[in-house]
Amino acid sequence: MNKSIGPKDKRNKYEYKFLKEIVESVSSKFNRDHLHVSDVLVELESPVQQVKLLLDVGCDDVVHMVGIHGPTEVGKTTLAIAIYNSIADHFEASCFLENVRETSNKDGLQRVQSILLSKTVGEIKLTNWRKGIPMIKHKLKQKKVLLILDDVDEHKQLQAIIGSPDWFGRGSRVIITTQDEHLLALHNIKKTYMLRELSKKHALQLLTQKAF
Ligand SMILES: Nc1ncnc2c1ncn2[C@@H]1O[C@H](COP(=O)(O)OP(=O)(O)OP(=O)(O)O)[C@@H](O)[C@H]1O
Ligand SMILES: [Mg+2]
Repeated sequence: MNKSIGPKDKRNKYEYKFLKEIVESVSSKFNRDHLHVSDVLVELESPVQQVKLLLDVGCDDVVHMVGIHGPTEVGKTTLAIAIYNSIADHFEASCFLENVRETSNKDGLQRVQSILLSKTVGEIKLTNWRKGIPMIKHKLKQKKVLLILDDVDEHKQLQAIIGSPDWFGRGSRVIITTQDEHLLALHNIKKTYMLRELSKKHALQLLTQKAF
């Protein structure tokens, strides 16, 4: 017997789809890959807003790469974490690559490439960074990703891990933190933000907050 679908079934189908979307949206919020950032933060709101302007996250037909630079201990990693936490929800996959300099010196560039792939598409073991490049291009070409490369100190790290904007799906964003502003220019990264040291007033505020 051919059972036709009545208006009630149709309504149930739409209700089910609607509920499914709500559940997926809520659970994606709970599954967020939030990173810990210091509880005592000062003067961070304005840098976060300014880098977010450079990132232009709502614009999905382009890929932007943004560099954050400044002297040691000025708060580049902290700023990158705060931005990551506030925008990661807008992306299909995200990855915060900590200490790129240290990891690539210790375990090779292929280790950083493997971490990137395992966080975004699943476990892939690489033995050579030259194999990693086509793998990243192939796997991430269609994905809207958020990538942070923290503490980069050599151009070859940028070449092997984030090559060029067309490696990534539309709407992707890449943030690089470095002490070396010239590396950003070398990689043709035009959107940059220089993080300055805390003003005396804010340094004092931080000291007081930490003391209590
Ligand atoms: N806005 C802020 N308010 C309070 N503390 C901060 C702020 N930014 C950074 N810090 C603190 O300052 C220290 C250095 O910060 P961070 O590691 O982010 O600097 P960095 O610029 O990434 O350093 P490096 O160049 O060595 O990588 C950390 O202990 C961090 O918690
Ligand atoms: Mg740092």
